[in-house]
Amino acid sequence: MVIDEEFIKHLKGKSTFEEYLLLYTLVRLLKPKKILEIGTWKGASAIVMGKALRDMDIDGHIYTIEVHPELVKIAQDEIKKHGLSEIITVVHGRSEVEAKKFEDMDLIFIDGEHEYSQAKADWEAVKGHGKIYLFHDAFNPGPKRVLKEILMEGEYRVVFLDYPFGEIYHDGIAYQKYKGGFAIVESTNTDTKSAFGIIINRPPKYVER
Ligand SMILES: C[S@@+](CC[C@H](N)C(=O)[O-])C[C@H]1O[C@@H](n2cnc3c(N)ncnc32)[C@H](O)[C@@H]1O
Repeated sequence: MVIDEEFIKHLKGKSTFEEYLLLYTLVRLLKPKKILEIGTWKGASAIVMGKALRDMDIDGHIYTIEVHPELVKIAQDEIKKHGLSEIITVVHGRSEVEAKKFEDMDLIFIDGEHEYSQAKADWEAVKGHGKIYLFHDAFNPGPKRVLKEILMEGEYRVVFLDYPFGEIYHDGIAYQKYKGGFAIVESTNTDTKSAFGIIINRPPKYVER
């Protein structure tokens, strides 16, 4: 009923077990019905989220956008292998174009190209289209700069999920600076209660680290 290292080991993913476990756990906690992902690669994160939906018996759907056709094909094969084709649709195209077409998403997972200009274009494409946004690699310079700007604008609160699972890079090399990690972005507009049921009532603040 849950994922374990064995499950992750067989995925064609780029992230660590801990990162996929966190993604899986967040989906189980948030129980989103409509998920949009930017950046499919070979389908690992979509499969992890799909497994969370399946394990929780949630009648949801995941749309995941990928620009490279060969990756679209690999991801579709991987998704099929995991028996998740009915709940995961791989969309071929450029994220900044395709993502705009999806509205009223419960969760938008942003994990595309991490250069600042693309991360910014991805955010602009999905802004207002989701209840909760989750950035992967939130500590990488591009996404981090976008997140800082989001925070400064004040429309959204940004919670950086710290890296309890180590300043360790995927190949086991300690980070010089933080990289990877996740950040949750939620509107400050409606109320002060976060999707996690936590009361957050602070003005936006950014602390350089
Ligand atoms: C970091 S990888 C995604 C990893 C995946 N989410 C996972 O955890 O398994 C980023 C992906 O975004 C794709 N990508 C880059 N720029 C894109 C764009 N403008 N539109 C759609 N996909 C893009 C890349 O081809 C790559 O597969």
